[in-house]
Amino acid sequence: MSARFAGTLFDLSGRAALVTGSSRGIGYAIASRLAQHGADVVISGRKPEAAQSAAAAINARNGEGFGRAIAQPANVTHGEDLSALCEAAVEHFGKVDILVANAAVHIHVGPSAEMSDAVLAKTMDANFFALHRLSQALLPGMIANGFGRIINIASIAALFGSGVYHSYTLSKAIALQYIRNIAVEHGAENIRANSIAPGLTRTDMARGLLDDPVALARELSRSTVGRVGEPDEIAGAAVFLASEAGAYVNGQTIAVDGGMTIRYD
Ligand SMILES: NC(=O)c1ccc[n+]([C@@H]2O[C@H](COP(=O)([O-])OP(=O)(O)OC[C@H]3O[C@@H](n4cnc5c(N)ncnc54)[C@H](OP(=O)(O)O)[C@@H]3O)[C@@H](O)[C@H]2O)c1
Repeated sequence: MSARFAGTLFDLSGRAALVTGSSRGIGYAIASRLAQHGADVVISGRKPEAAQSAAAAINARNGEGFGRAIAQPANVTHGEDLSALCEAAVEHFGKVDILVANAAVHIHVGPSAEMSDAVLAKTMDANFFALHRLSQALLPGMIANGFGRIINIASIAALFGSGVYHSYTLSKAIALQYIRNIAVEHGAENIRANSIAPGLTRTDMARGLLDDPVALARELSRSTVGRVGEPDEIAGAAVFLASEAGAYVNGQTIAVDGGMTIRYD
């Protein structure tokens, strides 16, 4: 199979990627674009049918230079699912070059006094420990192969204080620091670890905000582009970080947010 992007900085042919939470939303857009650029991809999510149809949609588009997709259901809060996910990836593709830790939960909005241990533990499991557990499982192979890309899907929410999004922002902020630590620890072994921080993006996770005209207007008043982002608009940053184009980028947090984080007026 010849590579459509051969000779470009964005060629991912011969690479294998594992993207958590990739049956829909931002994760699907990332997996789909990685495959378009030539990477084989593991599609995942809790619901097996959704993961299978997402993988089928990518494979249906397959042409010269496209990567192949397989589906492996996994709940990222279950350690045994994460092990099975890594095993399935290696079984099908022989390795994992690119990890995109994308699946996350956002299950509590309210004052810190009402944030239970159970909410915090589940949020940390999904939004931080899954990144750590998958990195621990996959880094030895990446180091042995002399190539690895770890991409954490964070949120611009991790860059601000919040009086109501306690567990979500805590978990996302810890993941940013984890990425910086991995970048320092493994940069010399040709591992790159970076975070993408999306702003408000049109997905199911953002549905509550998108369907609330007052909250949406407040959110968009901080945007420099005056609109919500689309999942595909997050995917380009992942292709960049996974490919040769991003080879000298390490330990960074890249905001893909329609300029929300630079607005002061
Ligand atoms: N949308 C936004 O405005 C926004 C903004 C900033 C950051 N983000 C971040 O972007 C990432 C993707 O979010 P999204 O908006 O694309 O969400 P989404 O549209 O709700 O999609 C979530 C994906 O993750 C899977 N998933 C959910 N819980 C899971 C779990 N416990 N284990 C494994 N898979 C799980 C879902 O499939 P199943 O339901 O089958 O499990 C689905 O594939 C998240 O890290 C989120 O924090 C989103």
